[in-house]
Amino acid sequence: MRKEFYNTLRLVAWGRELKREHLLTLLQADDEEERDLFSLADSIRDRYVGDKVHLRGIIEFSNHCRQDCLYCGLRRGNTWLARYRLEPGEILAIARRAAGLGYGTLVLQSGEDNWYSTQTLAELVYRIKQELDVAITLSVGERERADYKLWREAGADRYLMKHETADPYLFTSLRPGTTLAGRVQGLRWLRELGYQVGSGNMVGLPGQTPETLVDDLLLLRELDVEMAGIGPFIPNGQTPLADAPGGTAALTLRVLAVARLVLPWAHLPATTALGSIDAEGRQKALNCGANVVMPNVTPARYRERYQIYPNKICLQEEPDHCRGCVEGWVQALGREVATGHGHSPKAPFRNPRLPEKAIPG
Ligand code: 5AD
Ligand code: SF4
Ligand code: FES
Repeated sequence: MRKEFYNTLRLVAWGRELKREHLLTLLQADDEEERDLFSLADSIRDRYVGDKVHLRGIIEFSNHCRQDCLYCGLRRGNTWLARYRLEPGEILAIARRAAGLGYGTLVLQSGEDNWYSTQTLAELVYRIKQELDVAITLSVGERERADYKLWREAGADRYLMKHETADPYLFTSLRPGTTLAGRVQGLRWLRELGYQVGSGNMVGLPGQTPETLVDDLLLLRELDVEMAGIGPFIPNGQTPLADAPGGTAALTLRVLAVARLVLPWAHLPATTALGSIDAEGRQKALNCGANVVMPNVTPARYRERYQIYPNKICLQEEPDHCRGCVEGWVQALGREVATGHGHSPKAPFRNPRLPEKAIPG
């Protein structure tokens, strides 16, 4: 038991801002310290974002991607992958089904696929928001500021774009032709446009150090994200990183727990990637800071082709099955599934509309 470690936890209890060296100390916890870290993260989660678990239904609508990220199975260089694209009408039908299952947020996710024009996606968002009582998160990668603006005007509530790693050199080596600065610029635009902003990073990337992970957390805090997805890197045999070691569940949980201390108001998902390397991974995550689960609502026939990484869970299951499954294990943890849109509890999003009488004239 190190004095330094417990002094750091004390700073959290006192509401002091943690600095780089504090975060490094927390990430390097031994087993006993880790139990205390997890239990503090769990009580901070309870205090700030409550006991309910928010569900976000993910629609993986296209696995085409113009990028060539070294870690990802959807990279354009992966010629083994059979590609698919769903028509807007089919996406709408899936959205209806997911809303019928009680999802209050739908995430429209794809590779970077310019087959979908700015206008097409705007119309899709508009139609879903007109017809269904759901929040919409877009997760379609880097686009122009004008695109983000139009989609926001069409009704998109949130945008999810992980920064992946806060090390600029590692970023460019893993995502050829793109930069961390460009990514962060995009995240700042999304913020200006009034989106609830989601980012996040992978844990266990080759070349990543504990210091890099600290930088990831500091960047998330600087961006003041409403959501942060933190998941393990899982090597994919159809990519150049096939033989890399990959991230462990243990380290991912630690980074997640520290993230809860650094971002007390944020929505933190128990990621599917974590559930894919550890059968109990998502449950463990909900016990050390996480408060969100993102079940897949893509029809089972497409799921196999959206394998960003191998052994992804729920590949054979249909949306209604996953919905019931998650509800079951959330309740088994003594927690409850939230209803409603599950907006960020941070001030600007808590009650985004003024009452009619507040408008002069
Ligand atoms: N292992 C884990 N997560 C991955 N992602 C991409 N490739 C992998 C991988 N091999 C994550 C990235 C990205 C999202 C689409 O999936 O964080 O944001
Ligand atoms: Fe495309 Fe995203 Fe995969 Fe990179 S991580 S190849 S941008 S889907
Ligand atoms: Fe998909 Fe359990 S969440 S089968």
